[in-house]
Amino acid sequence: MGLLRVLSLALLSRSVLSSTMILHESISNVPSGFEVLGTPSPTQEIELLIAIVQSNITGLAKMVDAVSFPSSPSYGQYLTPAQVAEYIKPQAESVSAVTDWFGPNVASLQPFSPAGDILKVSITVEQAEGLFNTTFSTYTYSANGQEMIRALNYSLPSAMQQHILYAHPIISFASPPQHTSQNTMYKHKATLNRRQALIPCADIARPVCIQEFYGIPNTTISGSKTNSIGVAGYNTATDDEYANHDDLATFLKEFRPDIAGNTFSVALLNGAQNLQNNGGGLEGNIDIQYTVGVAGDVPTTYVLDRDLNGDAVTSYMDTINWLLTQEKPPTVFTTSYANEEGELTQSAATSVCNGYMQLAAIGISMIFASGDGGASDNEVGCTSFVPMFPSTCPYVTSVGATFFQPPTAFSSSAGGFSNFFPVPSYQAKDTAAYLMSIRDDYKGMYDPKGRGFPDVASEWEVFIVNGFVGGTSCASPIFASFIALVNDRLIACRKPVLGFLNPVLYSTGKSGLDDVKIGRRSGCSGSTGGWNATAGWDPVSGLGTPDFAGMMEALGIRNCIINAV
Ligand SMILES: *[C@@H]1O[C@H](CO)[C@@H](O)[C@H](O)[C@H]1NC(C)=O
Ligand SMILES: *[C@@H]1O[C@H](CO)[C@@H](O)[C@H](O)[C@H]1NC(C)=O
Ligand SMILES: *[C@@H]1O[C@H](CO)[C@@H](O)[C@H](O)[C@H]1NC(C)=O
Ligand SMILES: *[C@@H]1O[C@H](CO)[C@@H](O)[C@H](O)[C@H]1NC(C)=O
Ligand SMILES: *[C@@H]1O[C@H](CO)[C@@H](O)[C@H](O)[C@H]1NC(C)=O
Repeated sequence: MGLLRVLSLALLSRSVLSSTMILHESISNVPSGFEVLGTPSPTQEIELLIAIVQSNITGLAKMVDAVSFPSSPSYGQYLTPAQVAEYIKPQAESVSAVTDWFGPNVASLQPFSPAGDILKVSITVEQAEGLFNTTFSTYTYSANGQEMIRALNYSLPSAMQQHILYAHPIISFASPPQHTSQNTMYKHKATLNRRQALIPCADIARPVCIQEFYGIPNTTISGSKTNSIGVAGYNTATDDEYANHDDLATFLKEFRPDIAGNTFSVALLNGAQNLQNNGGGLEGNIDIQYTVGVAGDVPTTYVLDRDLNGDAVTSYMDTINWLLTQEKPPTVFTTSYANEEGELTQSAATSVCNGYMQLAAIGISMIFASGDGGASDNEVGCTSFVPMFPSTCPYVTSVGATFFQPPTAFSSSAGGFSNFFPVPSYQAKDTAAYLMSIRDDYKGMYDPKGRGFPDVASEWEVFIVNGFVGGTSCASPIFASFIALVNDRLIACRKPVLGFLNPVLYSTGKSGLDDVKIGRRSGCSGSTGGWNATAGWDPVSGLGTPDFAGMMEALGIRNCIINAV
C-alpha cells in the first residue's frame, strides 16, 4: 500500500469517526406474523448486503428507453453486460470509503452483483450493532418457525450517506418468493386421460387449446440457437421446487406428440439440486410443461436457485446476477413467483427493479405472474389494496389471468397500482383512461400515480401431468412461450428480438393483443369489489391476451413470415 493511500485512509477514517450517525431506514413495528424470540449472541455471524450508489443509473434508464421504444433510432440495439456494468459499477471512492468504514477487523467485503455495486459481508452481531448503531433481536416467523436476526432501524455515518443506498436485510421482514399457483386442484395421474377427454378447451386448457385460441404455431422456423426461454425456480425455506424430466416426457407424449422428444436443460445456483426422485414440485412442473409444451422447440432452461436463509430480495437478485453473467442468456425469462410489494423495503425493491432495468438494457424480456390474490392478495376486510412485486417494477411485463370463452378475466388474479414505482411513460395514457372511468371508486385504497399492473393476460387453468392447476403461474409461462415464438419469427426476418416488451406492447404491439372486457376481480371483502375488466387497459387483464397473427402484423413481419414458411 502506498504512503499516499495510507495517509488518505487515516484522514478518511477520522472523518468517518467524527461524522454523526444519521437514521437511514426504519420501520415502526414488527410486521404481523413475526415474534421476538430474544437477543442474539454478540459473536453470532450475520451476512449483510451493502448496496453502493451506482455511477449512472439515470443514464442506464435513458439507454433502456433508447433501445426499447419502437420509435427510437437505436431500437433493438441492446447493450452488452459489460456496457451495462459501466453504468452500474460504483465510483472507486465509494468502494474505498465503505471498505475503510468497515475497517480491518471485518472480513472482506465481496462483490455480490457482477458490477460490484452490491457487496456481501459476513460480520458479527456486535460489529454490525456498532457500525449501524442498532440493536438486533432474534425473530421467528410463526408460519414456518424460521428464525432471523433483524432490527427496526439502523443509522449510517453522515459521511456514508452519499455512498450507501441501503444495507440488507437489517430491517427486512420479507418472505421468500411465493409461488403463484395457490388455486390448485391437484389430482392424481390416473384421472388425467378421462378428464382430458371430458373437458373442452373452453374450460381447462391443454397446449392444443392455447395454440388454437392464441394462434400460436407448432414450431420455430428461424433455426436460431440463441433464442431461448429461461424459467425461474426457487428452493427456499418454505418451498421445495423441482422440474421433473419424466413428467415432462409423459406430458408431451399426451399433449404434444409432435414434439414428444423435447426436454429442458437445468442451471443450478448456490448448490440447488433439481431432485428427480420425488415427483417434482407443482410450480416447477407447471412452468416447465407450459414452456416446453407451448413454445414448440425453443430451447428451455430451468434456472433453479437455492436460498434457504434469504428472502425474496436475495432470491430475485441471485437470478438477476445469473442472467447478467451468461454469455448467451435466454431472450425470454418467466417467473411464477411474487411477493406483496410492501413486504420489501422501498430501497430493496428499487434495487431489485434496477436489476431488471439492467436485463432490459441487454434485451431480455422479463415476464412475471401477477399473483393470485385479487386486488388485496386475499386479505379480507382490508382498507387498502395490495400490489404485488416484481410485477410493480416498471421494467418487467406482468401477466394476469383469464378464461378462454368468452374471454373473461379471472377473479383472483392480482392487479392494481404500485405504492413504490411511479407510472412509467409507456403506460401513462392507458392507466389514466382507466382511472378516469372509475372516477372516485376505491379512493384512498391505492395510489393513482403508481405503475399499473398487469400488462397482459393469458389462460389461467391448465392440465399438467398430475391433474389440473390454476393461477397466474400458468399464465406467465404461456405468455413467455408466445413471446419466444414471436422472437423466433423476428429472427427469421433478420430483426432484433423484442427485449423489454412494454414500450412495444403499449404502442405498436397493442394490436397483437386481444382486449378482454369481461370479468371482475375480488377486493378486500364481499362489500368492496375489486377492479373490473373494461375496454382498453385495466388492472385485471392488462392490455389483453396473445394474438399471434395480430402480433406478426403489428410488428410488420407478416409477409416475411408467409414467404418464409
Ligand atoms: C444510537 O441510537 C440511539 C437509540 O436509537 C440514540 O439514542 C443514540 O444517540 C445513537 N447514537 C449516535 C452516536 O448517534
Ligand atoms: C450517464 O449516461 C448518459 C447516457 O448514456 C450519458 O449521456 C451521461 O453523460 C452519463 N453521465 C455520466 C456522469 O457519466
Ligand atoms: C430504533 O429501534 C429501537 C428498538 O430496537 C428503538 O428503541 C428506537 O427508538 C428506534 N429509534 C428510532 C430513531 O426509530
Ligand atoms: C400442429 O401439430 C398438430 C399435431 O401434429 C397438427 O395436427 C397441426 O396441423 C399442426 N398445426 C400447424 C399449424 O402446423
Ligand atoms: C364494476 O362493475 C360493477 C357491475 O357492473 C359495478 O357495480 C361497479 O361499480 C364497477 N366497479 C368499478 C370500479 O368500475
